[in-house]
This record gives sequence, structure tokens and C-alpha cells, in this order.
Amino acid sequence: MISQQTIQQILSRIDIIEVVGGFVRLKKRGTNYLGLCPFHNEKSPSFTVSPVKEIYKCFGCGRSGNTISFLMEHEKYSYAEALRWLAAKYNVEIEEKEQSPEVRQQQQVADSLYILNGFAQKWFHDTLLSSEEGQDIGLSYLRERGFNDDIIRKFQLGYSPEQRDAFARAALAAQYNLEYLQKSGLVVVRDERPLDNYRGRIIFPIHSQTGKTIGFGARIIKSNDRAPKYINTPENEIYIKSKILYGSWLARQAIDKQDECLLVEGYTDVVSLHQAGVENVVASGGTSLTVDQLRLIKKYTNHLTIIYDGDGAGIKAALRGLDMALEESLDVKLVLIPDREDPDSYVRKVGAAAFREFVATAKKDFILFQLEVALKDAAGDTTKRAEVVNQVAETIARINKAEDFTKRQDYIRQCSEILRIEETGLHALVNKFIRERIAKQESKAASASTPSFQQTDGMSLQQEGAPEMPGPDDEDSINLLFKHEQNERGMIRSLLDFGLRPWDENTSVADYILAESSDFYDLIDNRRLVKILDIYKAWYEEGLEPTVKNFLYHEDQELSTLAVSIMDFHHELSLNWKEHFEGKIATRDDLYKEDVISTIGYLKLRKIKRLMEENQQDLSKPHTDEEQMVLLQTHIHLKQLERDLLLHLGTVIIK
Ligand code: CTP
Ligand code: MN
Repeated sequence: MISQQTIQQILSRIDIIEVVGGFVRLKKRGTNYLGLCPFHNEKSPSFTVSPVKEIYKCFGCGRSGNTISFLMEHEKYSYAEALRWLAAKYNVEIEEKEQSPEVRQQQQVADSLYILNGFAQKWFHDTLLSSEEGQDIGLSYLRERGFNDDIIRKFQLGYSPEQRDAFARAALAAQYNLEYLQKSGLVVVRDERPLDNYRGRIIFPIHSQTGKTIGFGARIIKSNDRAPKYINTPENEIYIKSKILYGSWLARQAIDKQDECLLVEGYTDVVSLHQAGVENVVASGGTSLTVDQLRLIKKYTNHLTIIYDGDGAGIKAALRGLDMALEESLDVKLVLIPDREDPDSYVRKVGAAAFREFVATAKKDFILFQLEVALKDAAGDTTKRAEVVNQVAETIARINKAEDFTKRQDYIRQCSEILRIEETGLHALVNKFIRERIAKQESKAASASTPSFQQTDGMSLQQEGAPEMPGPDDEDSINLLFKHEQNERGMIRSLLDFGLRPWDENTSVADYILAESSDFYDLIDNRRLVKILDIYKAWYEEGLEPTVKNFLYHEDQELSTLAVSIMDFHHELSLNWKEHFEGKIATRDDLYKEDVISTIGYLKLRKIKRLMEENQQDLSKPHTDEEQMVLLQTHIHLKQLERDLLLHLGTVIIK
């Protein structure tokens, strides 16, 4: 692990123009630099790099990021690899961080497992190709299924003999430790005897992105009702099922080049498709996709095409978990293989060219496909149809990243056509679901944290449990939601930009923001912004001086992406204080205090409004006279707070 000091040193040397300029020819345009985007094909340049903000953005394809994410995306480096590359470039000596004993221990286990798996992979592969039993049973099975020798080598397929401990003996003789043999799932101990776990099976080694063997899938050869068709490696330090896509080590370049990832269910589907020359393919192992797997795919492409059997189970498995893909801004298409075939058998039947052609033409948009299936199901039933409308609106509502706005509009238009309903109606419904989701997150966050507003007598105003959010119900409130988010972002931006500047003689802007924001902390919608706030706070309290850079280059890609979008080129605060200062047009930089005051003021007002709403609701319930008095006083108190705040702010931000 690279120490924090080294990272700071590297970050302070980074010159984004120099680094990106090493890969892209850049020309100066005003304060920015412009070039042809390396991430998509274009004739006129729309790839913009800002040396001041240390970020790039392509106005053609929308990709944006910082120096490190550029290296990660362009050179496919990991975060640590990118740092090491920069360290070498700028002659920064890397100081490794002392690892905790637990981490070191875990690393040792992982290293041992890699080595053991490497040994096992080779042993199974040799056994398949060179032993008599391997050839007679394993190899002949694979050949019968049509796998050629090249593909068997490429995927390093293997064979585990029928004898009960052939592998265990070989491994123990080679000094591998029994504990690790069990942890790896290769060997089980019965009655104190080490036995092979994959006896009489074809072995599919499973590799990490970088090609290390992390586990195995073992397929039975003679079908047998009592034994499972596949036995897979159990979860351990290196085999984490939710993060694995079979075949990704061989597919990553093809996925990148073709800007599409095909996803199938089985090991044999991947191998067969490779043999047919279709290489941008990975397998999920028959379970629904996890967020980690989706993110893995997103590293290479935004286009996911799922190819599953046309049977019911396949479709269901395919659809599950896909709403998550929408949240990750992946474009999802679906192809169903007809006639009870799977991709393996189908590509053999029709050949590579026809297979590609089929995928290209049978590809259906995931949302539209889901809608069609549901509509067919509902037939003429009006109630069911209404449910379908709701369902599709909820799905569309998951496409809620700002940059996906047009995509969402397109779906609303297409789906309303298919459903034969008013586009504006569906639009309103989608918005309703978006609001509900936000409200739900908000109340979850509110009930999870301690009450932050105390009355003078110490009685808490927060209601027990999660209050039912009265959902705002017109277009204006949607705009309002966006305004909230903008102000939240504005606050974080001020913190990152101006945090270390003085607020008054004794305190900094960071002191002010961190203290004030605790009042409405639980109301911040975007929990990732809260994460930045938390991290900033922790660092700041440790005596570090966090800057924008620490977040732009944060290891957590989600945070660094968010930081990039907060500091984005066109991002301007919604606040219109500029007009309020006559004569000289002051910049945000000159007026950082006003900037902070109005942003914080806005968020505080929102908190007060919320508390008033809750109080109002409470008032409408039956109470004793005394309780009623307290609630009324609270109302008056809140009203006063609101008035003071408005007075203090002028009417700068309040519409
Ligand atoms: N699978 C599993 N355990 C099982 C059955 C299936 O882990 N008992 C996983 C495997 O990853 C398998 C995938 O689900 O590759 C798809 O299952 P299936 O279609 O039954 O297997 P195929 O890979 O198509 O194998 P074959 O073509 O040899 O039947
Ligand atoms: Mn199959």
C-alpha cells in the first residue's frame, strides 16, 4: 500500500496537460485545452481539458474525469497502478504504508491460494491432455461436444480423475498445506482422509481480470441425478462470487474494442462463443447480476447485451437485478435464444456469422422488452394494465442521473406509445416515483440519525420512527428537488474550494460549514455528498488540510466521479447573488463568504420548513392542552427562526 504522504506528493506534482497530452494531441483554447476525444471516434475536437480544475470532459461522449481516472480508463490501470505510473514519471519515491497484521495475514492467505490454484490448474490441465484417463474420458467428452484443442488450451480446461484422492496426493506431495487445500475447495477431509472434491469432472478454471486462477467450476461428465451438475469453489479470500465474471480476463480487450459486452449464463457458452470468434463475452454463472459485476462491465463499456435461453427461468434470471443496471447508467439489451437452445448449442447449430446476425437483429431494449412481456401477461385485464403502467414508470424512474435525462425522456415517449397512454401522464407518474424514492431515502436517513433540533426544554421535535413523507405533487416541487441538490452540491463545492480560507479571525470556512451543516445533516438528499462531508471532517479533525484534489483523486471511484461533477466546467451555482452587487461583477472567489452563507442558509431553511411540516402534522392529531401548547410554541419558535434567517439572507435565494 502506498502511503498517504506519497500520494500527496504525487498529487501535488500532477500536470494534467502533460499527462493527458502524452496520449492526446491538445491545443490551447482560452484557459482550456482541446483535442480529439480518445474515448470515441470524432472528427472535430470536443475533448476539453482544464489545467486549472485538473479535469477533462468530452462534450461529445460525456466522459469526464481527472488525471488518474484518465490513466485508469485509457491505459486500463488500477488506481494503484496509475499512482505508480505517475510516481515514476515525476520521480517520486514510493513509500509503502505499514500494513496492519490482519491485512498482512489476509494477503498471505490470498497469495498462498493463488499459488495453490495455479498448481491445481496446471495439474488438471496436464491430466486432461496427458493421462490415459484424462484423454479417454475428459478429452473425448470435450471433443465430442465440439471443443477444439486450441480452445481447450486457451481456457486451460482440465480433468479431475475418478480416483478419490489423486489430486490431494499430488498436492500434498508437492508440499501444499492441507488447510489451504480445504480453503480452496479442492480437497475435503472425510474421516480424517483428504479427498478430491471434483472427482471425475471437467475443470473450468476461473480467472481474475489479470489472469490469475481464483477458482474452478467442475462439471460432471456422466449425468447423475444425485450429484450436482457443477461444483464451484466456495467463497474464500480470493473467490468472491459477486465480483466474478467468467471469461473477463480473455474478453476485456474485445469488449473495449467493440464497445459491447455480451453476457451469457454458462461456462460452456463463453468457451463456445470464443471458439466461434465471438470474444466480447462473459458469463454470470446462472445467477442474477450484482452491482459489483455491473461495475466491472462498466469499466469497459456502457453497452450490455444479455443473451439467455428463451425459457422462463432464463428470462426471470435475466430480468432480476437489471434495474440496478439502469441506476449504473448501463444500456441494457436482451436477446433470447429460441427453441430451447442455449448460446453454446445455438452457435454450433447456426454458425458464427448467423449467430452475430441473430444477436444484432433480435436485440431488444430491456425496458421495452419487459413492458411487452408484462402487457402480454395482463392481456385485457384493466387492473393488471394499471399495474404494468406503474411498474414501467418505476423502472424508468431509476434512470435518474442528470446526464441520463434525454434517455429517460425517450423511454417515456416510447413506453407511452406502446401503452397507448398520454405521454404527459406517464411523465408525471415517473416524476412521482422519483420523488417517492428521494423521500424514502430522506426519511430513512432522518430516522437513522439522532434528532438534531432540540427545543429549549429539551423535548425533541423529531417524531418517532420514519415520518410518512407527504409527497410533493406538482412540477414545481420537482424543480425544487433539483434546487435542493444543487445547493447541497454548492455547499460541498464551497467546502472543497474555500474550506481552508478564513471565516473570521479564529475560524476557517471549514469550521463554519462543518458546524452549521450538522443542523441539517440528516436532510442532505445525496448520501454520497454526506460521505464527502464525513471524510473531509475526519481528515480535517486529524489536522490534515483537505483540498479538492484529495477528492478528485479519491480511491473510491464513486466519490471521485462525484467530485469531478461538482467541479464540472459548466457548473454554476443556482444562486443569483451576482446581480445584487452593482458595478463590478464580483466573482465567486471574491465573495466566498456570501456564497457559503446563502448555500447554508438555503439548506437550513429547508430544514426549518420540514420541521414546521412535521409539527403541523402533529398538531392535527388529538393532544392534551399542555401538549397542544408546546406544539404551538414550537410553531411560533420555528416561524421566528425562519423569519430571522430570511432577514439575515435578504431575499437572495428565496423565491
Ligand atoms: N451452474 C452452477 N451449478 C449448477 C448448475 C449450473 O453453478 N448446479 C452455473 C454454471 O456456471 C453453469 C451455468 O450455471 O455454467 C449455466 O448452467 P447450465 O446452462 O445448466 O450449464 P451449461 O454451462 O450450459 O453447461 P452444459 O452446456 O454443459 O450443460
Ligand atoms: Mn449448455
